[in-house]
Amino acid sequence: MKKTWLVTGGAGFIGGNFIYHILSAHDDVDVVCVDSLTYAGNLSTLAGAMNDPRFAFVRADIRDCDAMRGVFAEHKPTAVVNFAAESHVDRSIKDPGIFISTNVTGTQVLMDCCLEFGTERFHQVSTDEVYGDLPLDRPDLFFTEDTPLDPSSPYSASKAAADLLALAYRRTYGLNVTISRCSNNYGPYQFPEKLIPLTIANALEGRRLPVYGKGENVRDWLYVEDHCRAIDAVIDRGKPGEVYNIGGHNEMRNIDIVKKICNLLGKPHDLIEFVADRKGHDLRYAIDPTKAKRELGWEPKTKFVDGIKSTVEWYLSHESWWREIISGEYKEYYRKMYGGKS
Ligand code: NAD
Ligand code: TYD
Repeated sequence: MKKTWLVTGGAGFIGGNFIYHILSAHDDVDVVCVDSLTYAGNLSTLAGAMNDPRFAFVRADIRDCDAMRGVFAEHKPTAVVNFAAESHVDRSIKDPGIFISTNVTGTQVLMDCCLEFGTERFHQVSTDEVYGDLPLDRPDLFFTEDTPLDPSSPYSASKAAADLLALAYRRTYGLNVTISRCSNNYGPYQFPEKLIPLTIANALEGRRLPVYGKGENVRDWLYVEDHCRAIDAVIDRGKPGEVYNIGGHNEMRNIDIVKKICNLLGKPHDLIEFVADRKGHDLRYAIDPTKAKRELGWEPKTKFVDGIKSTVEWYLSHESWWREIISGEYKEYYRKMYGGKS
């Protein structure tokens, strides 16, 4: 039977990569993308899918019940994969309201539509940030699916709320939900406000490279295509009501990432500038992906050394994509966020 997957937030970083992954990996799946095209959504990211007869794009807000009911009535999705979110921690610290509205209410609206229209599966794309952080001096500790939720930022708190709501819809209404909680992603089409693309774009422009605090915070980086394969596996083989942690045991300090990018681009390390730390800055994220491996047979394929090289190459060969972004609203964001410091 023909399947139709409704992918929300597909004009963003991971959703866009996921749409390309699905269109090439599954002949029997049609994709409908719903995206409201916030500052983080770029239609140019989906240019390669627009002429595909199996793909449709609808500009709409996931919080808009009438618009969502219209999309469900027209396209009758068999599964919903919810990427749409406000996703940047720094923005959530400055303006939390939109994070609660989009990330929590938006998720609720989509799940109500799933119940009303009998959608077989709702998959919530979540984050390891819902677990809070781990100490730097305990490399033996990892986030498992049983780690208590303890979010630190308005962003991660809104994602944790959405996860709990999804699990409540499972228990109360029997909705077939799954949740994946992934570590930090990197790869093509990532908006240049996040560490890796910001560092690449700034280095190429000869601008300072802002590193928060001492640069000792640790993130667990996963190449975006590996995340897309993991979500695909959860939708195919994941059990209703279950949470799956996704990560590749690739922990790195921020300062080492920034230096690595300088080296790949042949730029001097003295571009690096240590700036004021993020409020409530999580120290370390580290995922234990044992369950995903055991139950889904999923493992990451891309080593960091290869993924970061191809990511840098992608930004070098897609200058027009990110230059257009940093010439718009981003300029004002950058000025407010980093002031004259970088
Ligand atoms: P992104 O900010 O690049 O993209 C978000 C997309 O959602 C944009 O296209 C935006 O226009 C759209 N959107 C925002 N509000 C919307 C609304 N109200 N209605 C419709 N569309 C809306 O984000 P990303 O980095 O691709 O992250 C996607 C998802 O994955 C998020 O849910 C995020 O929490 C999760 N996640 C991200 C990472 C990461 O490292 N980036 C890691 C783990 C989980
Ligand atoms: P980010 O890419 O915003 O992802 P997240 O906050 O979801 O982990 O940041 C990754 C790490 O890099 C985080 O510890 C904050 C740090 N960081 C900087 O040091 N400088 C920057 O300019 C940015 C955007 C992030």
